[in-house]
Amino acid sequence: MIMVTGTNGRLASLTLQELADRKVPALGGSRTPADGQRHLDFDDPTSLDLTGLSTLVLVSAGYAEDDQVIARHRALLDAAARRDGVVHVIYTSLTGTGDHLGFALAHRATEDLVKASGLGWTILRNGLYAELFGALLMWAPDGLESAFGDGALSAVVRADLAAVAAIVAIHPSAHVGKTYDLVGDPITAGDVAERLEVAHRAIGLSEYRARLLADNVLLSFQPPMLASIATSVRHGFLSNSSRDLVKLLDRPLADALAVAADTAAAMRPGAS
Ligand SMILES: NC(=O)c1ccc[n+]([C@@H]2O[C@H](COP(=O)([O-])OP(=O)(O)OC[C@H]3O[C@@H](n4cnc5c(N)ncnc54)[C@H](OP(=O)(O)O)[C@@H]3O)[C@@H](O)[C@H]2O)c1
Repeated sequence: MIMVTGTNGRLASLTLQELADRKVPALGGSRTPADGQRHLDFDDPTSLDLTGLSTLVLVSAGYAEDDQVIARHRALLDAAARRDGVVHVIYTSLTGTGDHLGFALAHRATEDLVKASGLGWTILRNGLYAELFGALLMWAPDGLESAFGDGALSAVVRADLAAVAAIVAIHPSAHVGKTYDLVGDPITAGDVAERLEVAHRAIGLSEYRARLLADNVLLSFQPPMLASIATSVRHGFLSNSSRDLVKLLDRPLADALAVAADTAAAMRPGAS
């Protein structure tokens, strides 16, 4: 049996849906499980019951400081390797060109834990979501603003990453010891603006950081994390030409530019 962790989350819920669409039985794990799902909280080792599972899709549980994220992943991997008899773990990591990002360390440390777990493993080095890129563009009265400059991001639509996670989970033995870099075609903030028929104005990184620090909604670790995305895109570090996604997907790639544009459009003040 396959388990996908974090199924209230968007990537995990799409992965579970992909498995259901492919008529493959799978179980969801969540801190707030729906009917038929298993309670699973990486921060509570007593909840980590993986009995009866053979393949684990470990969707990274980010959104915290590195020590907490790594401890979460370590707890689950320990449960999988030492107590419950899982055979294969699939970890959703970060694209290889993402090493300059503020959250790269937790992913690379987890990759090391996965490789040392004694389990069969596959690492899915996911690119940044097209949905995220669209959401990070900011609306001004006369168009879009961003700190991305003319830099391109090899953006990928979440649903494509979910499909690959499902494809690998269905036949894990074909992917043992493999690390895949899953990115789509490069897009820029200017491309999104053009698609929406508005202007794009690049702002500097210091102005962007000041805006982030002034945002009371963000958690303390988020401004540096988001600023690291901006500088990495702006300076060309997140443009990657790996074809792994195209090779693994059994359908055409989703249109990352269209998805980023739709996401940005939905955030326009006054959009319904
Ligand atoms: N590639 C990218 O652009 C990108 C962008 C943002 C984040 N990420 C990473 O990719 C992951 C999946 O992305 P997403 O868009 O699906 O994020 P998401 O919608 O925010 O889902 C994250 C899920 O992680 C699970 N989680 C958090 N803390 C947990 C804990 N202590 N124990 C068990 N599960 C926990 C939760 O699932 P339950 O609520 O079901 O417990 C949560 O819903 C994120 O968690 C993050 O690490 C990638």
